[in-house]
This record gives sequence, C-alpha cells and structure tokens, in this order.
Amino acid sequence: MADFTPGLAGVPAARSSLCFIDGKAGKLQYRGYPIQELAAHCGFEEVVYMLLFDRLPTASELATFRAELASERRLKFRIIDMLKHLPESGHPMDALTAGVAAMGMFYPGDHVDDLRFRRLSAIRLVAKVPTIVAAWHRIRRGDDPIKPRDDLGHAANFLYLLEGEEPDPLAARVFDVALTLHAEHSMNASTFAARVTGSTLADPYAVVASAVGALAGRLHGGANEEVLDMLGSMDDRSPEAVRRWAEDRLARKEKIMGFGHRVYKVKDPRAEILQGLAKQLFDKSGRTPIYDVALELESQMETLVGHKGVYPNVDFYSGIVYQKLGIPVDLFTPVFAMARVAGWLAHLLEQLDNNRIFRPTQIWCGESDRTFVPIEQRG
Ligand code: ACO
Repeated sequence: MADFTPGLAGVPAARSSLCFIDGKAGKLQYRGYPIQELAAHCGFEEVVYMLLFDRLPTASELATFRAELASERRLKFRIIDMLKHLPESGHPMDALTAGVAAMGMFYPGDHVDDLRFRRLSAIRLVAKVPTIVAAWHRIRRGDDPIKPRDDLGHAANFLYLLEGEEPDPLAARVFDVALTLHAEHSMNASTFAARVTGSTLADPYAVVASAVGALAGRLHGGANEEVLDMLGSMDDRSPEAVRRWAEDRLARKEKIMGFGHRVYKVKDPRAEILQGLAKQLFDKSGRTPIYDVALELESQMETLVGHKGVYPNVDFYSGIVYQKLGIPVDLFTPVFAMARVAGWLAHLLEQLDNNRIFRPTQIWCGESDRTFVPIEQRG
C-alpha cells in the first residue's frame, strides 16, 4: 500500500523550471533570475513575458507585449452586465471567479493545442483580471466602471481604474514591484489547482477560474488582511506595550500574523524588498500609526522569535502598502490574483508542453461487500 501524505506535503507534483526557492538561504528566483534583480530592473509586464515565454524580452518584444496587454484590457459589455447582476455584498474573489469563468464563453472555439490561442488567452487573462477586479469594486458601490487607459502601465492602470485618479510615479512603481513579488511561488494550492485543471485540456479561463477559487480560501490568500486587522487593534504603540502584546500572544501559543513561513526560515526576500519600498512610500507621503507599529513589532519579534527562524513574510508589508495606495482591504486577495495569474498561466503552458492528466490514487478506508437493504426494510 502506498504511503499517504496529507496535503501532499513535500510530494513533488510536477517538474518545473519556473520558480526556485531556497528557504534557508532566503533565495527566490523566477526562471533562474533573482527576485531582487527583477524587482530592481524590470516592470511587471517584463516579468510576465519572461515567466510565460522563458526568456527576457528584447526592447521591441517588450513594447509589442505591453501594447498587446493594453489593447486587451477592456471587458465585453455583457461581462460588465453580468457583474452588475451579482449581489453587491458578495466577496470580490467570487465576482472575479465568475468574471474569469464567463470569459471562456465569450472567447470560445479555439483549442489549447493551438499555440496562437494559448498566447492570446494568456494575454487576455493577464490584461482583463485587473479590469474585472476594479469594475466589480465600482459596480458594487453603485458607480460605473472606468474605461482602462492604454497609455498607462499595467500597475498604474489598475490604480487609475479604482477611483479615476492617475497614481504618482512612486505609487505606481511600488505597486508594480508588489505585483512582481507575488507573480509566482512554485507549487502552492492555487498553482496546483491550475495545473490539475489545465491537465484535462480545459480552456485557460476555466484554469484561472479554478486557481482563483483555490486562492480565495482563508488558508491561502488573505493573511495580509489579517495583518492589518491585527496592527489596527493595537492601541498602545509604545515599544513596551508592543513587546508585552507580542509576549502575551506567544505565551498563549497564538500565531502572529505576517510572521513565519513554511518555506523561508530567514526573512522572506519579498518582505525585504517590499519593506524598502514601503519606507520610500511612507517617507514621501507621511507615516501612519499602522506603519509605525509594524516597524516596532518587527523589531520586537526579532528578539522574541528570530532564533526560531520566524521573520516577517511578504504579507506583513503588502497589506500596509496596499492600504497606503488606497486599495480597499477586501481587494487585497484579488490583487494577489492579478499578480499570480502570471504564474498560473506559466504553469499551465509548462503543463501543456508535456501534459499528462493528473490522476492520483487514494487509500481505501471504507467498508466492502456490504449487504444491500431495500428501502422499506431500513430502520
Ligand atoms: N507567530 C508566532 N510563532 C510562530 C509563528 C508566528 N507567526 N510562525 C511560526 N511560529 C513558531 C511555531 O509555533 C514554532 O514554534 P515551536 O518551535 O515553539 O513549536 C516555530 O515558530 C517554528 O515554526 P515553523 O515550523 O517555522 O513554522 P510553521 O511551518 O509551523 O508555520 C506558518 C508556518 C503556517 C506560515 C506560520 O508561520 C503562520 O501561521 N504564520 C502566520 C500566518 C501568515 O502570516 N501566513 C502567511 C504566510 S506567507 C504567504 O502566504 C504569502
């Protein structure tokens, strides 16, 4: 009998050349490029190109790719109509799942075996996911969606779509890097869901809809929302009070949100990068109590649990940064999806290049050969 590993923890589910992580050394690389280099020198669109097509684009390839993405940002008006019919109290992740799944009905006909279709649907998905997120956010509060601008970059356009205000260059750059930092992270639950659905040769819209559904669960996306709640609930922000607060929680064996990671046993390299950008953002536009208490908590936690390899993860700073950029808290996970759609699609393409449908097995633990009892004789 095969061994059973709950959650398939540590069981390889694919061969992949997309994301390399060395959690002890704090190393994260997309297709072999260190995340620090990508964050410092590339825009999100360039990273998406590299993830999808396995090499950095030339300047003209990047210009074409950016133009293709910009030209695919708009939604079919009937998808907007469909969003208008959803309950405004619903969660934005559910609206995103519905919007993405519906895209499959608006762009039907081609087969995933068609390489041109694969490329086009990948571009459509990367381009339209932010438009769906922003459109839903406006529709639910009774406003009309804003038309995407094709003269803005991917990150700046999304911030513009929320309130119709063009972000300043620093805000756009910080958000762009945040998207890069969340674009890919090897075989997590949503990526696995994408690969499983893709292995059946379902269309890429169904693939991304399954991945969005998986990301929506509390155990996957959403830690950054909880970080904000936690920091917001800390009224006394003096170093002594923050330390007492952390000590009390640790004594009760409660986890402190935004700290620790299954893979990283040093500080998450994405948290390091985002922290630097957060500093620029808050230095320029004014510090907030939440930012100050986050810095204090990080320094107290270092002395309390640093020796256990527990440091801030990317979610510790992402929520603080998103809030400063004016992104509503319940859009944090949809924003994660906007970034991770690049990784999901890159995994889909990799899966299709060497596809075998996922068909794991199970360990039987039920009864066998039971006697059937007719319904009138059942007690
Ligand atoms: N707060 C307090 N103590 C912690 C924390 C934390 N956030 N994380 C780990 N520890 C403690 C563990 O309890 C353990 O203590 P022990 O040795 O006394 O038993 C020790 O540190 C070592 O823990 P690990 O084995 O390194 O961590 P584990 O794999 O158990 O947990 C996890 C990882 C689930 C991510 C955990 O750190 C956690 O729940 N963090 C808070 C939630 C969070 O921020 N999630 C986002 C993850 S990142 C992302 O999804 C992008």
